[in-house]
Amino acid sequence: MEKVANSSHRRRLVLWVMMMIELSLFLPVFCAQIPPRFIVRRGVPGLYMYGIFERKEDFPDANMYQIRIAFKLKEDKFRFMAVSDTIQRIMPRSEDRNEYRSQTLAFKEAVLLTNPSNPSLKGEVDDKYQYSAENKDNKLHGWISDDDAVGFWIITPSDEFRTGGPHKQDLTSHVGPTALSLSEEIESWPYNFTRSEDFPHSEQRGQVNGQLLVRDRYMVKELMQAKSAFVGLAAPGDAGSWQTEGKGYQFWTQTDNIGHFSIKNVRPGEYNLYAWVHGFIGNYKLSLNITIQPGNKIELGTLIYDPPRNGPTLWEIGVPDRTAAEFFIPEPYEQFMNSITTDDTDKFRQYGLWERYSDFYPEGDLVYTVGTSNYSRDWFFAHVPRKAGNNTNRPTTWQIKYNLQDVKENGAYTLQLAVAAASFAEVQVEFNNPIARRPYFTTKRIGYDNVVARHGIHGLYRLYSINVPGYRFCKGENTIYLTQTRSVNSFDAVMYDYIRLEGPNSLVN
Ligand SMILES: *[C@@H]1O[C@H](CO)[C@@H](O)[C@H](O)[C@H]1NC(C)=O
Ligand SMILES: *[C@@H]1O[C@H](CO)[C@@H](O)[C@H](O)[C@H]1NC(C)=O
Ligand SMILES: *[C@@H]1O[C@H](CO)[C@@H](O)[C@H](O)[C@H]1NC(C)=O
Ligand SMILES: *[C@@H]1O[C@H](CO)[C@@H](O)[C@H](O)[C@H]1NC(C)=O
Repeated sequence: MEKVANSSHRRRLVLWVMMMIELSLFLPVFCAQIPPRFIVRRGVPGLYMYGIFERKEDFPDANMYQIRIAFKLKEDKFRFMAVSDTIQRIMPRSEDRNEYRSQTLAFKEAVLLTNPSNPSLKGEVDDKYQYSAENKDNKLHGWISDDDAVGFWIITPSDEFRTGGPHKQDLTSHVGPTALSLSEEIESWPYNFTRSEDFPHSEQRGQVNGQLLVRDRYMVKELMQAKSAFVGLAAPGDAGSWQTEGKGYQFWTQTDNIGHFSIKNVRPGEYNLYAWVHGFIGNYKLSLNITIQPGNKIELGTLIYDPPRNGPTLWEIGVPDRTAAEFFIPEPYEQFMNSITTDDTDKFRQYGLWERYSDFYPEGDLVYTVGTSNYSRDWFFAHVPRKAGNNTNRPTTWQIKYNLQDVKENGAYTLQLAVAAASFAEVQVEFNNPIARRPYFTTKRIGYDNVVARHGIHGLYRLYSINVPGYRFCKGENTIYLTQTRSVNSFDAVMYDYIRLEGPNSLVN
C-alpha cells in the first residue's frame, strides 16, 4: 500500500471509507485465498481495489459461481443514482421495498412502490435488473449526494477481468458527470503503480493488430470491410466460446471503418482471436493460437471472415446483430412503469412486457407474412407463452408465410435461425406441415439466460443452420411454423436475432 501524504486528501479518503459500511467478498473461502487489496495514491481522491485469486495446488476443485464486491452507502446521503446517460434518477430507499410500502410483482426483485417515502415515486416499479449493462458499457456508475457535492463512483478502467466477453450483462454502467476521472483512469490503464507481480505493467504486455474483412459473395462480389466489428482475444476454444468463458482474461476492441483493429495491453498467455460482425451471422475464429509474450507486437495482416451461407437470400427477418432490439417492443402497462427507462433505447427494460403478448394475440398466435409484414411492428421481441386463463400458459406457434414461385425440388435450402436468447425453451420448426408427428427440426431444451424476467434484449447467441430439401416447399404459398413448446412459466422464452431462408447454391465458381 502506498502512503497518503496530503492531509486534505486523507480527510476525503476517510469519508470514502466511512461510506463503505459493508465491504463483502462473497467467496468460497475454502478453495481460494483472496485478500482484498487497496491502493491509496497521493493526490487521487479515490481508492483502488483489487483482488488476487489464488488456488493452491492442494486445494480441491471448486465452482466459483459469483464474485461480488458490495458497497452499502448511507441512504440519507445518497439518493440519486446514475447508471448511464439515460438511466439516472432519484431512487427509492430500501425501506420503500418492504411489504408496507410496496407490492411484490411476478418475482421478488420487482416491486410496485405503493407508499414510498418520496411520494413522487408512488406507482413506479423498481427492479435492480432494469439497471444492468453490458460489460463493454460497464465503466462507471454511482451515486450523487444532495449536499456536500459528494459522489460515490465505481470506475472500471478495463473489463479484461470480467467473464463472458463484451456483451455479458451485469448490474451496473457508466455516466456523464464524472466522465473526466473516468477518462483519466482509462488513459492510465494498465496502471503503473501496482507492486504485485501478478499484475503486468504496460511494457510487460503485448499487442495484436490486423484488419478484418468479410466475404459473402451472395451480397457483393468484393470483400467487405468489417466495420465496428467486435474483435477479441480469449482463452483457446471453439468459435464463440468466449461467451461462456470464465477462467481467462479477455481483451476486446472494435474495428474502425475499414476493419482495422489493434488489441493493446494484452497479458502474456495463449489465446484465440475471435470476432463477430454487425450485419452478418455466425462467429469468427482465427485458426491459429496466439501466444502473447511481454512486449511483443503481432501483426496478423488481413483476415477474412466467411459467415455461414449456403445460397441466395429468399427472405429475411430482422438484423443479424445478436439482439432482438429491432423487433416490436410494446409499450409497458401504465401501472407498471419505471420512469428511469422511458428512453427509446431502454424501452425493453420495462417491467411486464412479456404479458403484453397475450394482449396483442389473445386468440391466435403471431403470423408474419413476408412482403407485407414489418418486423419492427409485427414480430414480437420475445417468443413467450400465451396466457390460457387460471394462471396457466400455453405454448405458442408463430407462422412465417411466404411465397415461392421457383422451387428446385432437388435443391438444398437452408433456414438460418439465429437466436439472441433462450430460457428453458425449445423451438420446433416445421415446413408446411404443422401437425407432423416429429418436428422437422428442434433446438431441444436450450438456455438459462432468464432474459425476459431480467429485462434484457439478448442473452447467449446461438445459430442453427437448418438444411431443408427442396421437395419440402410448394410452388406458391409456404408456411414455416416455429413452436416454442415450453410454457411452465411465463419466462420460458426465446428471443430471435435474425431468420433467413436461403435458396440452393447458385454461384458459378
Ligand atoms: C505512470 O503513468 C502516468 C500516466 O498514466 C505517467 O504520468 C507517469 O509518468 C508514469 N510513471 C512511471 C514511473 O512510469
Ligand atoms: C491451441 O491451444 C489449444 C489449447 O491450449 C490446444 O488444444 C490446441 O492444440 C492448440 N492448437 C494449435 C494449432 O496449436
Ligand atoms: C417498418 O416499421 C417501422 C416502425 O413503424 C418504420 O419506421 C419503417 O419505416 C417500416 N419499414 C417499412 C419497410 O415499411
Ligand atoms: C379454472 O379453474 C376452475 C376451478 O378449478 C375450473 O372449474 C375451470 O374449468 C378452469 N378453467 C379453465 C379455462 O381451465
